Amino acid sequence: MKAFRSNVRSFYHILKYYNNAIKANKFNKIIARTKIVSKNYKPKHIEIRVAKYKRFAYFYGKSKPSMLSNTIKELSTTILNNQSNFETTKNAIDEIHKHYLETTKIEDFGESMQHMAAVPTASGMALSLNHAAACLLDYRRTAKFLRGMVSLIREQQQQQPNEIINIFYAGCGPYAPFITLVAPLFKASEVQFSLLEINAASIQMAQNLIKSLELTDYVQEYHTADAVTFQIPDAKKYHILFSETLDALLYRESYVPILWNMLPQLDENCAIIPNNVIVQASMTYPKSETEEIRKEKEAAVILNVREAVKVNDGSKSLPEEFTPVTINLSGDEKYYSMVVDTKVQIQGDLWLSRNESSLSIPLEMEIAYPLDAPNVTFFYQLKPSVELKLKN
Ligand SMILES: C[S@@+](CC[C@H](N)C(=O)[O-])C[C@H]1O[C@@H](n2cnc3c(N)ncnc32)[C@H](O)[C@@H]1O
Repeated sequence: MKAFRSNVRSFYHILKYYNNAIKANKFNKIIARTKIVSKNYKPKHIEIRVAKYKRFAYFYGKSKPSMLSNTIKELSTTILNNQSNFETTKNAIDEIHKHYLETTKIEDFGESMQHMAAVPTASGMALSLNHAAACLLDYRRTAKFLRGMVSLIREQQQQQPNEIINIFYAGCGPYAPFITLVAPLFKASEVQFSLLEINAASIQMAQNLIKSLELTDYVQEYHTADAVTFQIPDAKKYHILFSETLDALLYRESYVPILWNMLPQLDENCAIIPNNVIVQASMTYPKSETEEIRKEKEAAVILNVREAVKVNDGSKSLPEEFTPVTINLSGDEKYYSMVVDTKVQIQGDLWLSRNESSLSIPLEMEIAYPLDAPNVTFFYQLKPSVELKLKN
């Protein structure tokens, strides 16, 4: 029993540590190290990596609006045409960032609490203005979501050749990249957006940026509201819902409650970006310390978001938690560690792979032997806080 408790507490401790690390240091690279003390009191170290964001520290000369929208269109095209060339993609996103910084004057917001503090939603927390802006610099995330969005619009255009493609953008942040980088690639007679954001300062900034980029013709509505409870006007007209409101392990942000609320309102054929998120546990082996190459096998799907929200036809209130999943660690094989991945399906076969983005950082937990009671039970909690938890 003692070993079981210490195992469970170790997992719990690391999960909490990981969550706090992400919460506290979203802007900085941190390599946090945490300890598990195994039965023979040998400390084992685990590294937790959190994506690195650069601080806002650029200054740029002013460019005229029409020049600016052409520049953004070119940079967006560069990202789309160079998906496998990281340096080119990174440079293009950095360049976009410089223009957005200069246009929005976001630096003037400094690090005041108001623009650094997360905003509570009906379920989960929304990122502050500054943190939401920094998401642009999660390079592979931005490049892949851009590719997913543009190819989905083109696909929808082929399926409905004479229709305007209507997009609902829930959680646009101050840079609203998935309209400001996407709209210039289409005509306003082809795509129309409605934007929603809970953070009033962020949506105001997005509105100003859209005006500066001369993209106002592409926007039908702006809503300052909580996507977890919002009733979408004329919801059935939308072809695409875009909502990148998630973090690794689906920690704290509202992607799940937003889908719970919005999917039943939308047409059943409405496409979603990201289409799904799967939280999955795998076991690594062999146990031997000297082994350099470890194999991995899938242990369990802890949460498949689209499966979990499917039960809501619009009449059900958000549950406090989803069904727990138990993983049994006993058996002949001794494992080295358990890895929990956040697998983000943007669209079709376009996924964020492990460590490619801050959204897909895995959590690795070393296994301490012997195991007296080898069951580990995970569950995804929605109330009072939104996070993956372990049952004791
Ligand atoms: C991770 S940021 C992404 C910003 C931008 N869309 C991007 O992809 O770079 C998520 C944004 O969604 C907003 N958000 C999160 N939860 C929300 C909710 N429940 N209702 C409305 N907006 C929300 C946050 O305030 C934040 O601006």
